[in-house]
Amino acid sequence: MEEPVAGSEFERAKQAAAAVRARTRLHPQVALVLGSGLGAFADTLAGAVRIPYHEIPHFPRPTAEGHAGNLVLGRVGTAVVAAMQGRVHYYEGRPLREVVFPIRVLGYLGVGAAILTSAAGGIHPSYGQGGLVVLRDHINLQGSNPLIGPNEEKLGPRFVDMTEAYDRRYREIALEEGQRLDIAMHEGVYAAVSGPSYETPAEIGFLRAIGADLVGMSTVPEVIAARHMGIRCLAISCVTNLAAGITGAPLSHQEVIETGERVRGKFAALLEAVIPRIAEDSKPPARR
Ligand code: HPA
Repeated sequence: MEEPVAGSEFERAKQAAAAVRARTRLHPQVALVLGSGLGAFADTLAGAVRIPYHEIPHFPRPTAEGHAGNLVLGRVGTAVVAAMQGRVHYYEGRPLREVVFPIRVLGYLGVGAAILTSAAGGIHPSYGQGGLVVLRDHINLQGSNPLIGPNEEKLGPRFVDMTEAYDRRYREIALEEGQRLDIAMHEGVYAAVSGPSYETPAEIGFLRAIGADLVGMSTVPEVIAARHMGIRCLAISCVTNLAAGITGAPLSHQEVIETGERVRGKFAALLEAVIPRIAEDSKPPARR
């Protein structure tokens, strides 16, 4: 159960946004959440301004290995991006309200699009280790939802449509750019679990039966909060390992980090191609 806290998330997001605005005149168009092993992409942004999370009021600080804690604003081509070098996860014991706080701040700053990257376990038989999967849809099995609690109308509506949570046009752009760059890509359904233990083989059998193609411990709360604010989403996962029981080999965080690092180059090339097209396609949503 999410603990209610005094004051509104909208007000807190506004305070955090003011701290970001005090550091840069850049107006971000695209929010980019960099998952395990991908944080270095933020170091390639042009004209970058790096703001450590601890210098932004209310910003949650990650504890997971492979997650630095900086918000980096800069450009990819002409697109202005706000990149999160690291995120917090539900399994760190944080309320989902904290997990999604950065997305709300970036929404307040005016992003119309969010690109969320992550590591995931591959369930679909055609997925190989190191493959990239564009999320077509998700199944939320985390047992909670970041929108539980009083609704803040200034952020969005009480009941949020999730029919096309992952923007069709963005998915097309990602798949087109993947093809152009000769990167093997798939489209699939992501099951979000709480972790931090990996799944059992029986759980993976269950996830496969209910239509999941990959499984991970992030992304979904952020997508829900983004959709609440009318932000269009693209999510891409790297299959860092085949899910439990598929090969019979034990899973390790080390393997997840190593695969993430191996795939980093092609993931970065894809992001670099996709971001300007998404920025071009995105109009800030009507809100506030
Ligand atoms: N399961 C859940 N989350 C993950 C996995 C997995 O196999 N790999 C990377 N994140």
